[in-house]
Amino acid sequence: MKQQVDVLPLGETPEVGAVPQRMQAMVVRPERYGEPRQAFALEEVETPMPGRHEVLVYVMAAGINYNNVWAALGTPVDVVAARMKAGEKEPFHVGGSDASGVVWAVGEDVHNVRVGDEVVVHCGVWDEDDPWIVAGNDPIVAPSNKIWGYETNWGSFAQFTKVQAHQCLPRPRHLSWAASAAYCLVGATAYRMLCGWPPHTVRSGDVVLVWGGAGGLGTQAIQIACAKGARAVAVVSDDEKGEYCKRLGATGYIDRRKFDHWGTLPDWRDTNAYGEWAAKARTFGKAIWDVLGDKRNPRIVFEHPGETTIPTSIFVCDSGGMVVICAGTSGYEASVDLRYLWMRQKRLQGSHFANDEQAAALNRMVAEGQVDPCLSRTFAFTEVGEAHQLMYRNQHPVGNMAVLVGAKAADQKEL
Ligand SMILES: NC(=O)c1ccc[n+]([C@@H]2O[C@H](COP(=O)([O-])OP(=O)(O)OC[C@H]3O[C@@H](n4cnc5c(N)ncnc54)[C@H](OP(=O)(O)O)[C@@H]3O)[C@@H](O)[C@H]2O)c1
Repeated sequence: MKQQVDVLPLGETPEVGAVPQRMQAMVVRPERYGEPRQAFALEEVETPMPGRHEVLVYVMAAGINYNNVWAALGTPVDVVAARMKAGEKEPFHVGGSDASGVVWAVGEDVHNVRVGDEVVVHCGVWDEDDPWIVAGNDPIVAPSNKIWGYETNWGSFAQFTKVQAHQCLPRPRHLSWAASAAYCLVGATAYRMLCGWPPHTVRSGDVVLVWGGAGGLGTQAIQIACAKGARAVAVVSDDEKGEYCKRLGATGYIDRRKFDHWGTLPDWRDTNAYGEWAAKARTFGKAIWDVLGDKRNPRIVFEHPGETTIPTSIFVCDSGGMVVICAGTSGYEASVDLRYLWMRQKRLQGSHFANDEQAAALNRMVAEGQVDPCLSRTFAFTEVGEAHQLMYRNQHPVGNMAVLVGAKAADQKEL
């Protein structure tokens, strides 16, 4: 590893392979937990060094994801306290779970990338010696699995990030640095949800209901479903977002503001209240048929709002279909009318990020132009807090956002 100056000014690129001792990062500290705008601050911290099977990436751009809204708030998990309890010494969090950049240094026994390679980084990390993995099981289900840049330190909101070598994927060269940084977390998560749970893998002709169709996950889900020949119906909260989903390939959209039956189910013993809820859920189901011009129910429901929407998702899912869920943005209490689940033999499936093969499959779809990252807005590095603040308030633009770290605006290709 080449020696370098103590710290680099922001936006200045060092000689390839030269690693400064310290780096600039947008840091969260427990004493600043709260609204994202105030939680992130520019600080200088020590540059992490790659160990065995690890890689140091010079970050060109970093993607914005909801997980660092949670990290900034300090809830539902205090990420710094959790890591310090596990023996780590840094009393701060350098987040960021999406990156595009250049391999700057490699640790021992790294064979898949070399210094100078342009990469995107997926966010699944695990202990390769985990008995679950050694036994041949899916690593992203392993007890040791973590999300890099959320559950681990040294994410992409810094000039350099330390990653496991298997996280690195070839950067799609037709994209700008910012667009390259924008899609991997949400895209690979959506890919596993739609393609990772046989026999409920998305097929030609399937109807797929996509909550938050214009959001990070939703934009990727619509495109993946359409690329596989399915018909996507988006749910959104305004017409502009709905039209955007249609441009991505959705057959149509439902405006959720027209409904008010959200949240946990009324008590089934209260026949009036329950009947009222069921009538509204049926109207929602009819809205899906209206979009399709066909009385078909979704074989797959793509869920993440959670508490407010899960009763409706299970109600409208087709007999023998699957509701697949990766989050509970609106809350974690899922009430389910079990009668619909067992009598109509529906599946409620949890899903979390992706394994290497799934992340690589999604990356190929992006490289081949089947899936666009849907980058809508690019921020300056010091605006990491602002971008998360917009997301926290659901005031962010459609699609995905990124911040420029090493890349200059002039490096951007217009998409
Ligand atoms: N487990 C995983 O691996 C994983 C991976 C990625 C993301 N996630 C989680 O998934 C969630 C969504 O992430 P994202 O990147 O897609 O966020 P996003 O870009 O903010 O999109 C989410 C969309 O959900 C919709 N929404 C918000 N509140 C809602 C509600 N109460 N009812 C119905 N729809 C609602 C909004 O669209 P409208 O207002 O237009 O309806 C919003 O655009 C976050 O909680 C995130 O942490 C989990």
